[in-house]
Amino acid sequence: MYVSAITGDHADVAELVAWCDTNPGRMGVYDAEAGDALGLGGPAGLPQYGPDDLERMIAEQRVDAVVITTPDYTHAGFVTRAQAAGVDVVVEKPLATTAGQCRDIIDSVAATGRDLTMTFNYRYAPRNSTLREVIASGAIGTPTSVHFEWVLDTVHGADYFRRWHRQRENSGSLLIHKAAHHFDLVNWWLDDVPARVFASAGLQFYGAANAAARGLGERPERGTGAGRDPWALDLTRDPRLKALYLDAEHHDGYLRDRDVFGPGIDIYDNMSLVVDYRSGARMSYSLNAHSPWEGYTVAVNGTEGRAELTVVERGAVLIGEDGEVVLDASANPDGPGVTTSRPEGERLVVQRHWGAAEGIPVPAGIGGHGGGDAILLMDVFRRDLRLSDDPLGRAAGYLDGVRAVAVGIAANESLASGRAVTMEELGLAPAV
Ligand SMILES: NC(=O)c1ccc[n+]([C@@H]2O[C@H](COP(=O)([O-])OP(=O)(O)OC[C@H]3O[C@@H](n4cnc5c(N)ncnc54)[C@H](O)[C@@H]3O)[C@@H](O)[C@H]2O)c1
Repeated sequence: MYVSAITGDHADVAELVAWCDTNPGRMGVYDAEAGDALGLGGPAGLPQYGPDDLERMIAEQRVDAVVITTPDYTHAGFVTRAQAAGVDVVVEKPLATTAGQCRDIIDSVAATGRDLTMTFNYRYAPRNSTLREVIASGAIGTPTSVHFEWVLDTVHGADYFRRWHRQRENSGSLLIHKAAHHFDLVNWWLDDVPARVFASAGLQFYGAANAAARGLGERPERGTGAGRDPWALDLTRDPRLKALYLDAEHHDGYLRDRDVFGPGIDIYDNMSLVVDYRSGARMSYSLNAHSPWEGYTVAVNGTEGRAELTVVERGAVLIGEDGEVVLDASANPDGPGVTTSRPEGERLVVQRHWGAAEGIPVPAGIGGHGGGDAILLMDVFRRDLRLSDDPLGRAAGYLDGVRAVAVGIAANESLASGRAVTMEELGLAPAV
């Protein structure tokens, strides 16, 4: 997303100057893509550095800003090192995976005064922005509670169980990796700060033990070459995945296509939380990673009414006649996946006390993540073009990043201890 933005829509205000990654194969693929996008007739030929040489790269290439898109557990280290080397950072969610890493970032921002942009693209999806507008308008009064359910389907949800995300030490579990988006949305919708979290979670579907208990039998170690199996990802079927991962394996041994029913998974696939906010509002939250459809439902209760947002991102995941997963059910309009019972789309309804339910129109968005990505990139690369402050306050800073992951970090603590965990205990106050 950032490479195509810098070499495309935002090429007049941004320039790629170097790569920093553990894998030369992947740097080569992006270098070729960048050269292509810039019309160079070959690779861009930008210098490549390993992570130990971040500071050398910043000095030698006279870097202004670093965009951090590495695995989650590495974000904080790169943020603090880049800031100490004198540059601003743009960092993907989640900001960090532990309370200690959050404290390091808070200290680093205070010590260096460098900028940190968190790219919370979900905020920019028009449906999520519209819900923020509804709540901020006072239409439902003061928020008192939120009920938030997110379901990931057997394509998107399953994918986390194939990759580095499958281990808590890398991703902090989906409670941090994925739910950081969701917790940020709630913090922003309510304009509130989380205070206490109780969590219950388990690995109940994916993983070797669950597969054995369900009698799944012998499983392939990886999806590539596994044949017809809807749970398998065959990297040779997608030229980009093949180039980025299969062809780059010999550099670091990283497998992108491990079996979702294999050993070594320690993240959860069913998660439930109760979260209290500083204002006194509370949330019940649920995340499932093996749903037959994908999307979310959020309901916000207030002193004057209730707002409900329902989003169906993918209505069904079907298996075609060739045994392969069909992602776009509408490709076969006569097929069983095209049903009026779960149409893809979104519905925002506000109902005030003593009044009828009212549908609120959501403006159309263009591009990834419900139309959020394109607007987010404008904020990352051209925030100075804003005519005035964004009334929705969508651009996120490091404190927003801390407050979003703090819920997941507290949830992990709660799972370990079996009790509710406060933000003070995590040592994140006064930030959270
Ligand atoms: N905002 C969103 O919607 C969104 C979507 C996808 C990914 N992300 C975030 O982007 C990040 C990357 O995710 P991805 O799916 O692209 O993962 P990926 O595995 O495809 O890419 C990670 C890259 O980091 C490199 N890397 C691994 N360890 C490293 C290290 N120690 N130092 C330097 N480089 C290292 C890998 O070689 C790889 O090129 C994650 O933090 C993820 O949360 C955000």
